[in-house]
Amino acid sequence: MTFTPAFLDEIRSRLALSDLIGRKVKLVRKGREHSGLCPFHTEKTPSFTVNDDKGFYHCFGCGAHGDHFKFVGETEGLSFPEAVADLAGQAGLELPKPDPEAVVQSNKRAGLIEVCAMAATFFENALRGNMGRTARDYIEGRGLTPETIKRFALGFAPQERRALTDALRGQGVDTKRLVEAGLSIQPEDGGPAFDRFRNRLMFPIRDRRGRVIAFGGRALDDAPAKYLNSPETPLFHKGHTVYNWDKAGQAAHKSSRLYIAEGYMDVIALAQAGAEEAIAPLGTAVTEDQLGIAWRMVAEPTLCFDGDKAGRRAAIRAAERALPLLKPGRSLQFALMPEGEDPDSLVRSAGLEGFERICESAMALSDLLWRNLLETHRIDTPERQAGLKSSIFNLIGEIAHEDVRGLYRRLYLDRFQKLVAPQRSRRESSDRRGLSGRRSGYRESSRGRGAPMFKGGKSLLETSLMRGKNQSHSGEDGSANPENAAAARSGLEALILTIGLNHPAVLAARFEEIADLPFHEGALDKLRGSLLSLITVHQDLDSETLRNKLEQLGRGPELARLSALSWNPVSYAEEGCDHESVARGLHHVIERLRRLSVLAAEVTGAERSLREEWSEVAERRLFALIDELNSLAGREAEL
Ligand code: UTP
Ligand code: MN
Repeated sequence: MTFTPAFLDEIRSRLALSDLIGRKVKLVRKGREHSGLCPFHTEKTPSFTVNDDKGFYHCFGCGAHGDHFKFVGETEGLSFPEAVADLAGQAGLELPKPDPEAVVQSNKRAGLIEVCAMAATFFENALRGNMGRTARDYIEGRGLTPETIKRFALGFAPQERRALTDALRGQGVDTKRLVEAGLSIQPEDGGPAFDRFRNRLMFPIRDRRGRVIAFGGRALDDAPAKYLNSPETPLFHKGHTVYNWDKAGQAAHKSSRLYIAEGYMDVIALAQAGAEEAIAPLGTAVTEDQLGIAWRMVAEPTLCFDGDKAGRRAAIRAAERALPLLKPGRSLQFALMPEGEDPDSLVRSAGLEGFERICESAMALSDLLWRNLLETHRIDTPERQAGLKSSIFNLIGEIAHEDVRGLYRRLYLDRFQKLVAPQRSRRESSDRRGLSGRRSGYRESSRGRGAPMFKGGKSLLETSLMRGKNQSHSGEDGSANPENAAAARSGLEALILTIGLNHPAVLAARFEEIADLPFHEGALDKLRGSLLSLITVHQDLDSETLRNKLEQLGRGPELARLSALSWNPVSYAEEGCDHESVARGLHHVIERLRRLSVLAAEVTGAERSLREEWSEVAERRLFALIDELNSLAGREAEL
């Protein structure tokens, strides 16, 4: 129905907006305006104002804005014509004569609503009756109480082909209506219409005002579709509706929380456990409209997903879908249920507290997407790093709100920088070495320095090893940097072998230990193997004979690698040194190499767990370990 502007103005002038709103919101007069706590978002200090002169309300917090009709529409769940009719009544005005086409449309909707209500009653009765026994057993087996079954008006669609169709026709409903309401199916061959839902547990789907507009039906046998929903009808547009809309709104308002679960049963189980502020999409992934509905209830709804792969993928999709819609203060949180659980099963096994505990540690949208970026990108080469960077830009390009986009860019680029930061200069690194190797965390330690030490999230050590192959022991400027973690290990491994070649007896004395040391450089590892086996056979070979034998064993290239690495001679490795000094020197080298390998292994482990599951704590731990590894490697470079 269309209304003339004059008619709408007449209503506005007869009803003070502050009176209308004052029934729902406690308003305080301030000059020409009233103010109070915004009913459209949760706040502690008033940012909601009502101006009677202008006939508008406005919230400076969430941007809610509108007139009489919008307010009534939003708070009572009325369509515009319904709000006009409601307010016209209050203002003592008669509605203008509607045009016939609109009457047909609105009667049709009204008629379908009636049909849905009748069907809901039929299903409820069927559940209570004889035929409903199996269905009753099933839901009781799933832990639903009679109160819950009643509250959600659960029902049963009997097995017979035309149970509902016949029953409702018997009550005077046209077959055409039943088909329009999505309850009956008319075969194309002109045969009699039959029921869409058969042998299913029925979940009525209500609109914002609590009127049944559609159904979801869960199979009780092994029907191909576990859940079947009403088709799109003049009443029901599944992407624009959510399950439990009517009850969740109020509950969410009270608790300032809202859970978005995947299924009807999740919502019902949560409600039964005491959390009625839960909704679910209707057999599809969450749509933009459904997010909009959720955001009208709370600023940061919590999406609950199964902890399995599919659930995580769904969470990422929902997060990506939300990006264009983010606004200041308006976002989503993501709670991943333990593997194999959904909110329904979790509430049953761990209670509402168990569920809430998981939701309390829900991840921010920005963290979820960051974690996904890290999981889907390797960053061990410049090209891959650039790939990550371009994915970051693509992702944040989706954010429509400029300010939010800018802040995401800053956060992500900051994190990116820390992952792929350039080498530090010598001065910085020696500054750092003056401090403790273990620092409070990379955020702190890299502030103002701009260049933390992590190089290549995927395989720091692999990368450094590659570079180490054609480079000298330390970096170009001899500074401490992550490459040197690998270089330092190679250096120590080389030192052990040089000692072994020059003083086989000293090496033989610590045979077992040296055999057990983790050597990370393949060439040196091979050489160690050959050297140790020669020593077991001949205890007192001189250095030259040993080298010759190794050459004969085909270890020439490895010996060449060894001499390339042994550019920095130490006195205790030299041939002429006394045994005692050599033994003492070897002891220290072994200790240093052990510490380096342990730290390097910890870094690798921390990298792996960060890739598996990103968290700020894990990221900080990794950076702290890298710091420590680096500082140790830096000290090696100086020795
Ligand atoms: P799930 O398969 O996760 O079901 O589907 P569930 O809610 O845990 O159901 P129970 O516990 O086995 O009874 C989640 C939601 O996806 C939609 C339904 O809305 C369901 O609630 N769905 C699922 C369908 O629409 N069709 C299907 O065949 C399956
Ligand atoms: Mn389930």
